[in-house]
Amino acid sequence: MKKRIVLLPGDGIGKEVIDSAKDVLSAIAEEFNHSFSFDTHEIGGAAIDQYGTPLPETTVEACTQADAVLLGAVGGPKWDNNPSHLRPERGLLGIRKALDLYANLRPIKGFKNLLHASPLKEEVVSGSDLLIVRELTGGLYFGTPSERRDNGNAVVDTLSYSRSEIERIVDKGFQAAQQRRGLLTSVDKANVLESSKLWREIVEEKKAQYPDVAVEHVLVDAAAMKLITNPTQFDVIVTENLFGDILSDEASVLTGSLGMLPSASLREDGVGLYEPVHGSAPDIAGKGVANPVAMILSTALMLRYSFKLDDEAKVIEDAVQSVLDAGFHTADLQVADGRLVGTFEMTKLIVDYIKSQNASKCIASCYF
Ligand SMILES: NC(=O)c1ccc[n+]([C@@H]2O[C@H](COP(=O)([O-])OP(=O)(O)OC[C@H]3O[C@@H](n4cnc5c(N)ncnc54)[C@H](O)[C@@H]3O)[C@@H](O)[C@H]2O)c1
Repeated sequence: MKKRIVLLPGDGIGKEVIDSAKDVLSAIAEEFNHSFSFDTHEIGGAAIDQYGTPLPETTVEACTQADAVLLGAVGGPKWDNNPSHLRPERGLLGIRKALDLYANLRPIKGFKNLLHASPLKEEVVSGSDLLIVRELTGGLYFGTPSERRDNGNAVVDTLSYSRSEIERIVDKGFQAAQQRRGLLTSVDKANVLESSKLWREIVEEKKAQYPDVAVEHVLVDAAAMKLITNPTQFDVIVTENLFGDILSDEASVLTGSLGMLPSASLREDGVGLYEPVHGSAPDIAGKGVANPVAMILSTALMLRYSFKLDDEAKVIEDAVQSVLDAGFHTADLQVADGRLVGTFEMTKLIVDYIKSQNASKCIASCYF
């Protein structure tokens, strides 16, 4: 298979972990006889410094022509005081909108030997395996421009959704549940918000099309509580932009480190942007200690969702599992009797596994 992949390293550790993604994909291409070409472009703070804008036209054009996009992370203190149109995050919102990436998928699954790293009790998080499907291009973040009134002492943000915007994301939620354990939790605030009332009506209408999926409605405040008191009750959660933003960060603590969580942002035709959930981590940038696993697992999502290469995606996920099971970990993860490694070494272990497809042989003979 021949595919064009655009790499957007961005800022901070984004630049480090994107190299890990490239190494892993090159190994997959070699092992499975694919041809992946990589084209690197700027976004975020790096783009502001070079082009005076967080999202240059050349970046948008390259992404539009690509089969998939991998993004590291954007942001950092250097640009924190910039006016809002010159903030690195504008680049991220802009590329999601430009590519019409309306569905954000975040799988959250605890790795067995890392459960102790969760701030929640091990017995609470053990067995958690959920997927958050978040609407990404509508709602409060994309309302009519926010407005200050009354000499800056009052403010208006608008939350608007059209029927078609809700229908397409709800469909994604149902379809994801069909491929998993068949339970869809729709999260809204239908006791207060009109947008949530329409959301709930649409979920109810859609139910008939997916008879194999059980549906429940949960208010967002209750969902926030249940996520940390009983996360195993969830399979697929589908929700709007703002609620999804908050709940997916809350759910990220289940696994113990932001460095472990991948995400996919998809368009109807399967083109997608894949990125780790974490940010640019300015506190550790340039030190070679960042955990590359979230970025590497994002490449697995890319192979699965955009290229339909399920076996190859599984090889990457098995490689990560195997290296972690062998006790290797980066500094963000505390593993009793583990072997502390940096970004480069962690990536090499995973690449070596992919090439050998035999964890014990590889870890014993390739690395030490
Ligand atoms: N999608 C994105 O690009 C994105 C997401 C969130 C935050 N940000 C931006 O990133 C910058 C820093 O934000 P923040 O500090 O709130 O969040 P962050 O995710 O960058 O870091 C939070 C903490 O987690 C640690 N961490 C994060 N990823 C790690 C990894 N892979 N390995 C090891 N440790 C890791 C960091 O060292 C830090 O202590 C800000 O400018 C913010 O706007 C960008």
